[in-house]
Amino acid sequence: MIRRIAVLFVLAVTVARGAEAQVSTRGATDAGPTRTLPSSTRYVPAADRRPAHFPDAWRFPAGRAPVVAKRAMVVSDAPIASAVGAEILRRGGNAVDAAVATAFALAVVYPEAGNIGGGGFMLIHLAGGRNAAIDFREAAPLAASRDMYVGPDGKTTDQSIVGPLASGVPGAVAGLTAALARYGTMSRARVMQPAIRLAEQGFVVDSAFSQRTSDYRDILGKFAGGTVFLSNGEPLPPGTVVKQPALARTLRAIARGGRKAFYEGPIAEAWVKELADAGGIITLEDLRRYKAEWRTPIRSTYRGRTLLSMPPASSGGITMTETLNILEGFDSLPPFGSTRWAHLVGSAFQRAFIDRNAKLGDPAFVNVPLAQLTDKRYAATLRATIGATRATPTTSLTTIKEGTQTTHVSIADARGNAVALTTTLNDLYGSGVYLASAGFFLNDEMDDFTSRPGVPNMYGLIQGEANAIQPGKRMLSAMSPTIVLDARGRVLLVVGSRGGPRIITSTTQVVLNVLEHRMTLADAMSAPRIHHQALPDSLRVEPNGLTPAVTDSLVAMGYSVFSGGGVGQVNAIMRVRGGFEGVADPRGSGRPVGY
Ligand code: DON
Repeated sequence: MIRRIAVLFVLAVTVARGAEAQVSTRGATDAGPTRTLPSSTRYVPAADRRPAHFPDAWRFPAGRAPVVAKRAMVVSDAPIASAVGAEILRRGGNAVDAAVATAFALAVVYPEAGNIGGGGFMLIHLAGGRNAAIDFREAAPLAASRDMYVGPDGKTTDQSIVGPLASGVPGAVAGLTAALARYGTMSRARVMQPAIRLAEQGFVVDSAFSQRTSDYRDILGKFAGGTVFLSNGEPLPPGTVVKQPALARTLRAIARGGRKAFYEGPIAEAWVKELADAGGIITLEDLRRYKAEWRTPIRSTYRGRTLLSMPPASSGGITMTETLNILEGFDSLPPFGSTRWAHLVGSAFQRAFIDRNAKLGDPAFVNVPLAQLTDKRYAATLRATIGATRATPTTSLTTIKEGTQTTHVSIADARGNAVALTTTLNDLYGSGVYLASAGFFLNDEMDDFTSRPGVPNMYGLIQGEANAIQPGKRMLSAMSPTIVLDARGRVLLVVGSRGGPRIITSTTQVVLNVLEHRMTLADAMSAPRIHHQALPDSLRVEPNGLTPAVTDSLVAMGYSVFSGGGVGQVNAIMRVRGGFEGVADPRGSGRPVGY
């Protein structure tokens, strides 16, 4: 405990002291939260929470304690990045300052998903009641074309996933700097300083980081990333100090010059040339034209609570809203984990995904029927198609024929502001292409487009024309940063996830577990999850997440039940009496830090 406090103190000083401070080189998982419950203290949930019951063989127990904080909280997938964000808050920054600082820190210590070579979405709630959303999703390069991933044999190639053609024009730097300029209170230099120092002076690889370099050693070794994140072709052992001087230079230039330093001038010229030499098609003109877009958040309600979520180019907000609208029409939901619960929740997802996969795309290119899809009367018509005792085949509901890496940050500050931020390279380490001149991985977001209608992408999503590739168009995303307000309009939940289409279903289930099943936040996160994305027409369940009897009943109802890996990786904050609870998904290695 004393060591932990000492470590945190060093980190706090490191983040706060600025240029003259030494960056501590601890492992990414040993910077503990500032305030956990001592192990001797039993966690007593609020009176309105109900005990959760999970199947005996399920891997996470109910009743875990959250991290608690009186004033403010940051939950991200990398403990060092959470600590960076929390320290910015402690130093008087608001949730947006902390989000931007955390995101740049993630680009350094969590390079598999934290990024400056990708994109994402940030949802902002301000204490006075104003809300904002910024879309910094990647866009297809001007030289992209509809069938660029269809080979001469008519089959789709893997060029949308790996290599120099897989990337959309990165949006992260444009989005983060624009959010800071409009809603932050600190300078770029101040919020980016921890990230710059972590890149320059290094951080220590922990076992989770090491494992990921091992799992992705082939893709790292294939491109220049292997020179930084492998050692002679071998995974980095825990304890290694990783320094990233090229990234430090790029971050320093952004801190000084803002978005221009990344999208124009010598840094842009160098990395665009490096990419072109490798066969890529992103040009300086693409970078010059790229713009982060301010959007109006989707506002919906579920049993009297207000949900704020992300509109297109993310499908997250519409699909979550449609699902919850379908479910709200039932007087209450059946008990968590029961056959009927899986049937109703799975069927609601299935119907919402049918619309998602066929009708959604970049609003600058397609007419998205947002008002209709988020209308509760429309949801009632979908609800009416759910059979009492049978699964409905997707083919009878849709005209589309059947033919992972992201990171979410939740932040609540002491002033009542909140930020939900999801950002991604798509796959772990994106396209694999590492631009040595500027020190970052490029995304493989082009795979989120419909490469060919009716043909599944890497997540098995079968999508339609609305999401076909066009130059300058943003590919449809599932990222679902979400903020739930209580009946008085105060922040109740800040939540979001990673996992491709499972982002939508995992985020929705955490919201449902809290609002409907009245679980504690920790139980809501530990609870087993299901997933239905219309096509493939199967109900995915986490291994041992349903009892054998429930699984058998679902099969008897006509479901193709498929036991897959984890559904999503959520990071969430909940307001409770006296402060906040923060919970990182037990499926990952993230950590809440609060004060
Ligand atoms: O935007 C999307 O929907 C995907 N590119 C997200 C990818 C993802 O979550 C991978 N993480 N595990």
